[in-house]
Amino acid sequence: MSGIQYKRLQNPNSETDDYTNPKFDYVCSPFIGFLLCFGFLAFMIFFTFVQYPLGPIPKRATSEKVIILQQLDNNITTNSKRNITQWMDYYFTKEESQFLNCSEMIKGNKDMIELYVNNGRLKLDQDRLFELPMDCPSIRQRVYGDMPPFSPLKRPIAFVRTIYKIYELQEALLSLSYHPDNTFCFIMDAKSTDKLKNSVRSMSDCFENVIVLEKEYMLNSGGHGQDPAHFDCLQTILDRKWDHAIILQNFDLVIKTPYQLSDISELLNYTSSVGFGFGLSYRYNTKADWTPAGMKLFKNETGVPDKILHTPMRVRKSLNEVIISKVFVKSMLDKLNMDIIIKLFDDNDYYGVDEMLVQTLYENYLGLDGQMESNCTQNHYDILTRLTHWDWTGPNGFDKECHSKWKRHGICILGVEYLNELFKSRKATANKVLENFDFGTIACMREMIKKNVTGETPDAVWLTSFPQFREMQMKANGTYDRNTFDC
Ligand SMILES: *[C@@H]1O[C@H](CO)[C@@H](O)[C@H](O)[C@H]1NC(C)=O
Ligand SMILES: *[C@@H]1O[C@H](CO)[C@@H](O)[C@H](O)[C@H]1NC(C)=O
Ligand SMILES: *[C@@H]1O[C@H](CO)[C@@H](O)[C@H](O)[C@H]1NC(C)=O
Ligand SMILES: *[C@@H]1O[C@H](CO)[C@@H](O)[C@H](O)[C@H]1NC(C)=O
Ligand SMILES: *[C@@H]1O[C@H](CO)[C@@H](O)[C@H](O)[C@H]1NC(C)=O
Ligand SMILES: *[C@@H]1O[C@H](CO)[C@@H](O)[C@H](O)[C@H]1NC(C)=O
Ligand SMILES: *[C@@H]1O[C@H](CO)[C@@H](O)[C@H](O)[C@H]1NC(C)=O
Ligand SMILES: *[C@@H]1O[C@H](CO)[C@@H](O)[C@H](O)[C@H]1NC(C)=O
Repeated sequence: MSGIQYKRLQNPNSETDDYTNPKFDYVCSPFIGFLLCFGFLAFMIFFTFVQYPLGPIPKRATSEKVIILQQLDNNITTNSKRNITQWMDYYFTKEESQFLNCSEMIKGNKDMIELYVNNGRLKLDQDRLFELPMDCPSIRQRVYGDMPPFSPLKRPIAFVRTIYKIYELQEALLSLSYHPDNTFCFIMDAKSTDKLKNSVRSMSDCFENVIVLEKEYMLNSGGHGQDPAHFDCLQTILDRKWDHAIILQNFDLVIKTPYQLSDISELLNYTSSVGFGFGLSYRYNTKADWTPAGMKLFKNETGVPDKILHTPMRVRKSLNEVIISKVFVKSMLDKLNMDIIIKLFDDNDYYGVDEMLVQTLYENYLGLDGQMESNCTQNHYDILTRLTHWDWTGPNGFDKECHSKWKRHGICILGVEYLNELFKSRKATANKVLENFDFGTIACMREMIKKNVTGETPDAVWLTSFPQFREMQMKANGTYDRNTFDC
């Protein structure tokens, strides 16, 4: 966040959550760039060849699986022919999953990880999927059939997620956090395949607490569509029972159990987990009128001090992923007219537009409930919401600094090499998993959640480094003073 310079990303086909930095474009600029990029390509071909000298990774070739599937009459036959003894069997053959030993990999057993990686990892590709039975009993069975019985949550969570890739990934990610008390709201990219759209809608028909917005959005690599989508979801689920919402995108992995998230919500009380940083001037329209009056931000301006109405809001940013309290969300949706400010940020002339809306509304005091009141203009990372292994050097693809040796948009892909780190982390989510790079990370994370052996739940002492948390504590003990508060 701070100290990192971002740059517009030109590739319209990649996903929307992260943005490259200048070095990326610099490397691929003409002349020197040609040599470097050519070299990289040659290296990749070499690398692929060396790593898999005996041909493609899969234990069973795609065509073979497709033929087998074609030979089967319907999904019932497909299922009965397969021997499901563990959750992984819904998505992979036993031959494919034989090298995945979660308990050892979570401990960081290097030999086990190497054996698994050298055998090609578990990859879920669009063209080599099983035909899953989509009746409700089957879906529920896959999502939580093998999970321990649920006990009530003190503080349920709403998971608000934009999605655009393959259904199986979203079903798997749902199964990590599924709890009957939680709420799940999905928003689909209009460009998604009919298969994804139909499957997600079928899934949602099977659960009272899984909602898919009717409306679909144009999501792209610039972050466009994310804010409108997330806020429409929040509005849709506002009357349901939840205490915090976690804003997520397609490839985010939740790394805490529903019970831990409930405990975190209890600690946070009415505060939110949002980072503090300044918006980058090339990511929003600095010439626009950012005063609440100019944006017609308040539904009812009566009683709102002139100073608030006419002071331009300072644009703030952290990550798209935030944990926001119901108290704050409700106050925003009740009191504010969100249309104009959402449109101002969701501007097609800019890239990386989806990390500022919540931050700006949270950190400029407007008199909303649950909002940060102190004027904190220093930078603070969000230490709770998202684990990320950043590496800004070099292009997408092979990266020797990444434990998984693979990177996208400045972020290392979470292969099983990261399981031990996820296991030790206090954070709530991690970015990013790619189902067609390493599904094993998702499967083993699910094992951790199922066995209740995830990372420690943060405590109040740790959260005290959040200014908003300290502000809340001081308000509770009567020592808060807006003018002397030390950010
Ligand atoms: C899949 O199974 C369900 C019930 O188990 C059935 O209703 C549905 O028709 C089946 N689909 C196909 C393509 O056979
Ligand atoms: C299913 O798998 C289990 C464990 O791998 C094995 O014991 C059993 O014999 C298998 N059953 C069939 C019908 O293949
Ligand atoms: C994982 O490896 C350990 C140690 O070799 C072994 O005891 C255990 O049975 C293995 N688990 C699975 C699921 O293969
Ligand atoms: C949460 O904050 C409210 C308002 O200050 C307070 O009344 C309540 O006791 C707090 N709850 C917890 C669990 O601290
Ligand atoms: C606007 O707020 C004022 C003060 O809270 C209230 O008296 C008035 O009825 C509100 N107007 C509308 C249209 O809700
Ligand atoms: C917040 O602080 C900055 C400088 O620290 C100042 O320029 C700004 O006017 C302050 N805003 C408010 C609303 O007090
Ligand atoms: C999960 O583990 C935590 C501590 O590690 C414990 O307090 C909690 O009771 C466990 N939950 C369940 C459902 O076993
Ligand atoms: C009130 O809370 C703040 C923030 O945690 C703490 O630093 C301070 O010591 C507390 N004051 C009293 C009187 O308890």
